[in-house]
Amino acid sequence: MKGIILAGGLGKRLEPLTRITNKHLLPVYNKPMVYYPLETLVGAGITEIMIVTGGNNAGDFLRLLGNGREFGLKHINYTYQRGEGGIAEALGLCEHFADKDKIVVILGDNLIEKSIKKYVDKFRRQESGARILLKKVPDPQRFGVACFKDGKVISIEEKPKKPKSEYAVTGLYMYDPYVFDIIKTLKPSARGELEITDVNNAYLRRGGLYYDIFDGWWTDCGTFESLLHANSLVEKKCRKKR
Ligand code: DAU
Repeated sequence: MKGIILAGGLGKRLEPLTRITNKHLLPVYNKPMVYYPLETLVGAGITEIMIVTGGNNAGDFLRLLGNGREFGLKHINYTYQRGEGGIAEALGLCEHFADKDKIVVILGDNLIEKSIKKYVDKFRRQESGARILLKKVPDPQRFGVACFKDGKVISIEEKPKKPKSEYAVTGLYMYDPYVFDIIKTLKPSARGELEITDVNNAYLRRGGLYYDIFDGWWTDCGTFESLLHANSLVEKKCRKKR
């Protein structure tokens, strides 16, 4: 199983913080944001990792992370996404790296409290298809929103005005190699992006989309409010450990 961190995009919702540097290099409490998804993948036993960067200061990822020795890695792969064509476009750049293996994808601005190993192990045992992670949130309209019944996902809508459930689709996705065929069929959405929700819905239609619900906290850092919230969650976690 290989790991992919998507850290492209322009982070416009965090202007002016992202005018000069890349969103994923901004601090979250005592570490740069990208450390957290990287630690999440390594903590699940994934050692072959690709980081997709983009926008400003992409070279700084290399200066910061190098070959990943600080994380117990021997090597990190990097690639560059021009512009902001969407999460699925960024993922599409990784086909060669994935090389027909299963992949675990995490958004570079997603922070997860606990180990994801048990979900990754479930996906290892899953013959084919995809697996997503859901979390109950107070503001589902900010996210992809999933409805499920009898253990199956029955719908996913991207940022619906009237959410049909309180369950956000988090930025942790697991896919079989078929994902790259799906990405090639996508058309840009109204916001001009190739949407990861369209990828998940393609799996849903084939009957190959499974889910788990996270225990522990999960947050993104894409807005000032969620970035502040992420800082406070990490600070509390560090305080508990002391
Ligand atoms: O955080 C979870 C949510 O992430 C999901 O619930 C949504 O379904 C999904 O669309 C996404 O929503 P956002 O609108 O919040 O995504 P955002 O544009 O903020 O991008 C999140 C990360 O994805 C970003 O930190 C880096 C990566 N990304 C994004 C874009 C648009 C890329 O690598 N390239 C891109 O072009």
